[in-house]
Amino acid sequence: MEIFVVPTASATGSVAAGILAAVIRSKPDAVLGLATGGSPLPIYRALADHTVDMSAVRGFALDEYVGLPAGHPESYAEVVRREVTERLHLDPAKVTVPDGSAADPERAAADYDAAIAAAGGIDVQILGIGHNGHLAFNEPGSALDSRTRVEVLTERTREANARYFSAPSDVPARCITQGLGTIMEARHLLLVVNGADKAGILAAALNGPVTAECPASILQRHPHVTVVADEAAASQLAPGSGQVAVRVAGAAAVA
Ligand code: PGA
Repeated sequence: MEIFVVPTASATGSVAAGILAAVIRSKPDAVLGLATGGSPLPIYRALADHTVDMSAVRGFALDEYVGLPAGHPESYAEVVRREVTERLHLDPAKVTVPDGSAADPERAAADYDAAIAAAGGIDVQILGIGHNGHLAFNEPGSALDSRTRVEVLTERTREANARYFSAPSDVPARCITQGLGTIMEARHLLLVVNGADKAGILAAALNGPVTAECPASILQRHPHVTVVADEAAASQLAPGSGQVAVRVAGAAAVA
């Protein structure tokens, strides 16, 4: 595991975008796993500044709410369209989001894993981490080998996401999420973490026991993980632990 610690949230975006741009240069039709939420936004903004042809890049979103009407601005299909597909000029036909408005969401979830496999698997999976340690919408208690499926959001997650909706009760109760087992099949995991409010859970995930109570702890078992954290989020990480910690004064050093 490599850990880049950078001064600001914006710098996490620059460093992560540099990693992604290098991947896309070497494999123009790379398959990216796309995360939503606040943490990855600086990545997409920084990636847009790279002069790399992304027209062949393929993408699979990590998750989607169940039950929002098609076209709802806070559906992840819309967020991905705005923040990723349009910003980076990806081909919309090559970007897939779980179908949260499907008549049979369980079936849509199973089909999603099959679609990822048919694409040859994910080259780089972008990830954020929830305050409760969730990865995608794999809430505490999720099986470490779980597949893409319909899940119920915890109240903690619904509260965290209420900032995107006009009322907390508007946050959907269910979602389709890639499973932890699905995420673990990606060839490279790229976790971006910002802010002091994530410091405790990031340390628990990387330095604590691997347990379903902290789903992100599964990262310790993946052979190729890159963590990009700002100073505040990294402040409780234990030195050592077999990890290579790299402190970067400015994003330019590795972008
Ligand atoms: P955030 O969400 O980046 O908006 O904090 C991360 C997550 O819940 O996985």
